[in-house]
Amino acid sequence: MKGIVLAGGSGTRLHPATLAINKQLLPIYDKPMIYYPISTLMLADIRDILIISSPEHIDNYRFLLGTGEQFGVTFSYTIQPKPQGLAQAFLLGREFIGGDPVALILGDNLFFGAGLQDLLTRARRRESGATVVAYHVDRPEQYGVITIDEHGRPMRIVEKPAAPESRWAVTGLYFYDNRVVDIASRVKPSARGELEITDVNNAYLESGELNVELMSRGFAWLDTGTHDDLLDAAEFVRVIQRRQGVQIACLEEIAYQKGYIDRESLAARGRAFAKTAYGQHLLSLLTQS
Ligand code: G1P
Repeated sequence: MKGIVLAGGSGTRLHPATLAINKQLLPIYDKPMIYYPISTLMLADIRDILIISSPEHIDNYRFLLGTGEQFGVTFSYTIQPKPQGLAQAFLLGREFIGGDPVALILGDNLFFGAGLQDLLTRARRRESGATVVAYHVDRPEQYGVITIDEHGRPMRIVEKPAAPESRWAVTGLYFYDNRVVDIASRVKPSARGELEITDVNNAYLESGELNVELMSRGFAWLDTGTHDDLLDAAEFVRVIQRRQGVQIACLEEIAYQKGYIDRESLAARGRAFAKTAYGQHLLSLLTQS
């Protein structure tokens, strides 16, 4: 399965902080925002990853992430000339996707929870259809809202409804079979001028091929649309990391645990960042059994 991280957008809701830098490069506490969605793809065992960003910022991602060798993955890069919707990712990524299934994650989405790896594995193993991940939120009107029947089957998804039918928001993590490329190419721009991911998901839903993974309590899903969201996410990461002595979205750690990189590579990265808790954490992994 291929993976796409969509890190475009103009970040207007975070101006002036995002005038000179792309939003997904801003830190969430101690690491760049894009590390978090990349970690989610890696936890789903996805190693072939396309980063999509705007023409002005794509080189910053190349500088930050390089080939991916340091994490035992492969990064490719494509530009999104204008932010014209999430579903555009499949058209921009058509060549990269080839004949494979693909997962899409938004570059500002942070997932955390003990059952995350299992949920991701379930979603990626489905051979046909699509899977969306839904999360219970206080203000669903800001999201795509999914209505689920009493058997747990999806009934419809409505993009940012004024009067939401449920509190289940569709998160920015999606798994598709290869038909998504064709489906996305048939989607027409919405009233806000975007190729909506919700239209793609509803196409799967109408043919009875949309699965939903509900993230129960105990999971965290945070996004970072506003300054307050950004600070909330940073605070969340800081609290968990300091209290438990763990690192969230530590890409080298995931790579090492999955056997993508060896001890030497891990040690080299730890030494390179030795002045930080992140680097110290990498070095501490070398002495753990
Ligand atoms: C997009 C999707 C929406 C989804 C949300 C998740 O919204 O259109 O369905 O719930 O991402 O973050 P946007 O970020 O384009 O407002």
